[in-house]
Amino acid sequence: MSFELSPIDKAKFAAAKRATAYVKSGMRVGLGTGSTAAWLVKCLGEMVREEGLRISGVPTSSRTAQLAREVGIPVMSLDEARWLDVTIDGADEFDANLNLIKGGGGALLQEKIVATASDQMIVIADISKQVETLGAFPLPVEVVPFGWRTTKVLIEETLIGLDVLGRSTSLRMNGDVPYVTDEGNYIVDLHLNRIGHSRSLSLMINQIPGVVENGLFIDICDVVIVGYGDGRVEVRDINNGSVERGRVDFLEADNIFTDIAD
Ligand code: 5RP
Repeated sequence: MSFELSPIDKAKFAAAKRATAYVKSGMRVGLGTGSTAAWLVKCLGEMVREEGLRISGVPTSSRTAQLAREVGIPVMSLDEARWLDVTIDGADEFDANLNLIKGGGGALLQEKIVATASDQMIVIADISKQVETLGAFPLPVEVVPFGWRTTKVLIEETLIGLDVLGRSTSLRMNGDVPYVTDEGNYIVDLHLNRIGHSRSLSLMINQIPGVVENGLFIDICDVVIVGYGDGRVEVRDINNGSVERGRVDFLEADNIFTDIAD
């Protein structure tokens, strides 16, 4: 494979590569899901194989578990790990308070459980994920299959009283059949356009019988690492209010570009 990445992939790679600085030998690391998190898993795999990094990875999806094993990261379940040093994951949107929408890849439930069980959650993202107000990206809500149509109507009725700009909902599909999560549930996407009060919306949605979890991550993320297509990275830390700028080099010698298929 030639060393040709699109600017967006370079941005994702830059954020992921910078995030590896947070991972030290002996750590239990939550491994996110999605294309940005896949770069992180590949980078960590390279460090395990070539630099002697010793970590245990707790994947947030079956896809990530498979990739982690392929690249040589020892994998354990959250029940084995109990508590993690750090979780590194992507996001569909993040705002200035580092609140997030996640679940575009359908893994929001395991992602939220794993992130909440971590001393620190770090999000890696390209700059296109930054928003002033959450909600342009459809908010995923994981629901149990039993009675999902009723649950969907209850969600729509709940939205009537909430500060949002759109109220349509759709069942996520996988071709002709409903998309099924790793936990065997369905996902209803909420097309809200703009979420006025994300904390109360999250609480209200989660109270509906049949709803398992929603993709709003409020006060969970500690650090966002933003990557740019030219290799620049910005590390924004919500706890100490700092913003650190740097650069990641793209090295043709990086094996991750050649030995693992996307
Ligand atoms: C999966 C997620 C992903 O982190 C989110 O969809 C971002 O994915 P990508 O890095 O591919 O843009 O929440 O459930």
